Amino acid sequence: MIRTLIMNEPDERDRLDRMAQGVIGSPLNRLDGPAKVTGTAPYAAEYSVEGCLEGVLVTATVAKGSVESIDQDSVLSMPGVVAVITDPRMTTRPAQGGAGKAPVQGPGKVDYYGQPIALVVAETFEQARDASKHLKVTYREQKGTVLDPHSADAQVEEQTSKSVVQGNLAGAMIDAAHAVDVTYTTECHNSAPMEPHASVAEWDGHSLTVHLSMQMLKYNVKELADALDLSPERIRLVSRYVGGGFGSKLGISPEAVAASLAAMKLNRPVRVVMLRQQVFQCVMRRSETTQHFRLAVDAAARLGGFGHEALVSNLPGEVFAEPVTQASKFLYRGENRVLRVEVARVHRMTAGSVRAPGEAVGMVALESAMDELANEIGIDPVELRLRNIPERHPSLDVPYSSRKLAECLTSGAERFGWDGKKRAPCLRREGEWWIGTGMATAARVHNVNEAKARVRLCSDGTAIVESDMTDIGTGTYTVLGQIAAEMLGVDPENVLVRLGDTDFPPGAGSGGSWGAASTGSAVFEACEAIREKVAPMLGCSDDDLTLKGGLATAGNLQIRVSDLLQGEGIEAIGHFKPGAVKEQYHSAMYGAFFAEIGVNAYTGETRVRRFHGTFGLGRVLNHKTARSQCLGGMVWGIGSALTEDLMFDRRDGHVVNPDLAEYHVPVNLDVPEMDVVLLEDRDPAASPLQAKGVGELGICGAGGAIGNAIYHACGVRVRSYPITPDKIM
Ligand code: MOS
Repeated sequence: MIRTLIMNEPDERDRLDRMAQGVIGSPLNRLDGPAKVTGTAPYAAEYSVEGCLEGVLVTATVAKGSVESIDQDSVLSMPGVVAVITDPRMTTRPAQGGAGKAPVQGPGKVDYYGQPIALVVAETFEQARDASKHLKVTYREQKGTVLDPHSADAQVEEQTSKSVVQGNLAGAMIDAAHAVDVTYTTECHNSAPMEPHASVAEWDGHSLTVHLSMQMLKYNVKELADALDLSPERIRLVSRYVGGGFGSKLGISPEAVAASLAAMKLNRPVRVVMLRQQVFQCVMRRSETTQHFRLAVDAAARLGGFGHEALVSNLPGEVFAEPVTQASKFLYRGENRVLRVEVARVHRMTAGSVRAPGEAVGMVALESAMDELANEIGIDPVELRLRNIPERHPSLDVPYSSRKLAECLTSGAERFGWDGKKRAPCLRREGEWWIGTGMATAARVHNVNEAKARVRLCSDGTAIVESDMTDIGTGTYTVLGQIAAEMLGVDPENVLVRLGDTDFPPGAGSGGSWGAASTGSAVFEACEAIREKVAPMLGCSDDDLTLKGGLATAGNLQIRVSDLLQGEGIEAIGHFKPGAVKEQYHSAMYGAFFAEIGVNAYTGETRVRRFHGTFGLGRVLNHKTARSQCLGGMVWGIGSALTEDLMFDRRDGHVVNPDLAEYHVPVNLDVPEMDVVLLEDRDPAASPLQAKGVGELGICGAGGAIGNAIYHACGVRVRSYPITPDKIM
């Protein structure tokens, strides 16, 4: 039994609010928590397979050119070495994800330093790693390659299909009562998931099974199939636990293709674990950005002109461009608008999605420019935002679905103790420290994606949920279990959630913050179908059926579910499909950040002292996991504001800081006590659950609050993120 819901209009069903269990929203601990903290949750590389060989990737040491020769004999006699795989299908770039197509494969052609070109396979990892370092490779190097997006030689293309040009921005700037015309820059970022990319491939002569660490299995299976010229039906992917993805595991990564090719060629299982440096050098980067703002307001501080033009970079041939202006399209008013993204073609590793692509850096810069505008006008930056919330989408002219922006700004300000009047810099000094506060808006587009999930209400009163959906540390196991528990009247501990296996129905995958709302909606629909089967057993309609604590109740009739069902119980597949509702409403998540920081007067070091976020994101499915997502996003905000900078050598484009020792993410001492408040509401246009995305919202703008606080503390406006001490001094 399949039940399909195509979301063509807002879903006003109040089913979840009428359910008797009260499980939805409750801050349940993660179902997978104990397995993770006791080390019994197997991650991809930890699957032990008999007779498994170990492979280590060999990566290019030139930025552009071709591989002239690979001298296999240079390593084949080394201890334990079994083979050197130089198959032309060896992935040369990671896939962007979501397309279901093979990544760009260029046999023998090198497009960036760090590109995988071969795999050395040996009996042990140490042997493979040693041999990989001795493999003799000669290149025909193409000199004069453009590595720097700001180089005059860089070819620049505008993403015209994404541009917005309305009215007369130049005129609005001239007529403005106040205006700012400023340029901000942000540097490259790495996703830096704790679990490196890893694959264990097994080939039985006909089918391939790969344990790996990916975010979106239903696409990944097609990507791998395409890369190997194999039909997707012959491939099974398993990703039960994923130690962080943040975008780097959206598309199939090179080690998966390499492990599969090796297993198929050698007829033995092959494991390939990327070295940490390889994760940094050849998976995915967030592009650096240059962002030019032109903001013009009238005497009442209402935006009439809004310009946001960005330059990002990527390899030639890549479609992805960091969508820097994504939130600028809908967040603030301004009838004269120019929004543009240009891509410079450079031979650095592939640029792709890193947590909250677009807003993560676009909002940081926008919110800094808005702070400059508030200072220019001389009003409270919170008030400036409040005056510029548009009634309708400024370009599409559609209404917004639920939008808690004003409430987040005002209640967040109150909770934080924001003083909007004292905005002049250098007001407060404590010993060596200049103390300041800053704020920023949070905004992120809401996405949903097609999803299927299978749910079974078993005759023993328990339930099973199955989907190839992944849990990348976000709490998906728990949230999907809660939805089934609520709908079917089963205790959450009696719901078995099985994810991360392409043998199960295709879920939404974890990406674009859509996972829980999309796959959760599929679970919801499957449960609706099951309830409709149970209700007639009690002679009632679904609306009059109460399922709670393993009991089915209708009027005076009460029966144990386990007495009602026999054998296999009842099974249904829920199928959720996005539909026309997204053209009728603009749906997004909103929030506000408030930070208090100290800047050391002698060293220029910034310390975050307090950090608050209030967020409005529709129905909250689990207050603990949702809050954790927001906290994690704000930690990213601290990193992007102060330290994160993936650096490329100007001579050959190699990553200079390719590990967690040199690429500085915030550690415990960098993160103060943080406060997160979720303002819950219902968004019927967002999903059948009336829930929106939460995963990426907490990062979108967070760094801006810190940058603004630095200016407020010490009067130094740094327009180049990260704001390292050298830029302040
Ligand atoms: Mo996200 S960057 O779509 O995993």
